[in-house]
Amino acid sequence: MARPHIEPYVELNDPFRKFDINGFKGSHYKVLSLDTDTGACTLKVRFDGGFKRKPGLSYSDVEIFVLNGEIKVGKQSWREGHYACIPAGMAIEALSVARGAEALVMFNDSEPHFEESGESHHLALEEGYASLNTYEDAPWAPGNLVTPSVASGCLIKVLRYEPLTEALSFLYCMTPRFMQDNISYHDSAEESYHIWGTSWMMQFGELPTGGYFWRPAYINHGSFRCKYGTIAFGRTDSKLHNYFHYNPWSNPKENLLRAAAQVYRQRPLLHDWSVSDGHNHPHGPPDFQHPHYHDDAHVRDLHGNHPGHDHGHDHGHEKPKSKGAGKKGGGKARGKR
Ligand SMILES: [Fe+2]
Repeated sequence: MARPHIEPYVELNDPFRKFDINGFKGSHYKVLSLDTDTGACTLKVRFDGGFKRKPGLSYSDVEIFVLNGEIKVGKQSWREGHYACIPAGMAIEALSVARGAEALVMFNDSEPHFEESGESHHLALEEGYASLNTYEDAPWAPGNLVTPSVASGCLIKVLRYEPLTEALSFLYCMTPRFMQDNISYHDSAEESYHIWGTSWMMQFGELPTGGYFWRPAYINHGSFRCKYGTIAFGRTDSKLHNYFHYNPWSNPKENLLRAAAQVYRQRPLLHDWSVSDGHNHPHGPPDFQHPHYHDDAHVRDLHGNHPGHDHGHDHGHEKPKSKGAGKKGGGKARGKR
């Protein structure tokens, strides 16, 4: 079970709880969304003044977005608007918070975890590390970075692009008087936290500052309005494709079928091949450029517990070696971020 649909959720008036686990003592948290199978979650964390933590790592990919205050990481200063992505197993320097700070903290693969260590795990994919002040160090791009595109007036700063899944982490803003009249859905889950501002969607009403959603794939959202401007932090767990339409009554199953019908019309050869018996085997088609990709831990993890992917018939091929391995270490499967 991936994370459930949570929308809208406004966290500002809900209480923080004491974060009483190793590496977080001296902080408080609220759960914004949670995958109850893997423990993957998005938290709002309040680091109290005087918070300190030794260098260390987590066995989950961690993303952090600083909402206010200042977190010292070694000699770096992570202030309001700072974003970091810390790959699983990568050690970061000691943290200290002099006067308090609040941040979104996202564990993508497992429940919150910290282990004291001056060195990274030897398998850590450190090239995935990103750290920047999103308010100062990245330009706004038009929303038509993704096509079919949102209406003009919705801008984006891409902060992280995961090459394997095409998952995105980004800031987006809607300009004052932004409007878009169609209905949208995606093949990916979509997550957002409103840093400032209120916007409106036909299905879910107004989402104000402190508003949050985790929206699984294929759920209708839109039309959209934003009166005075909004800035938000968002993520998807795989490729962001905008499927637009004007039918407010379609359900997620119908939306998925419509997406599949689009593949049927636009890529007929690929569609026919992939659904023909003997070809839709669970470990993927051969790829002459990447002949051993099935053995890649990240790919196995993506497909290890993908619902409906294993069709239960054996074509004489070896099954993935660690079916279900993703349940423990993984979590990069769609909808499992
Ligand atoms: Fe969307």
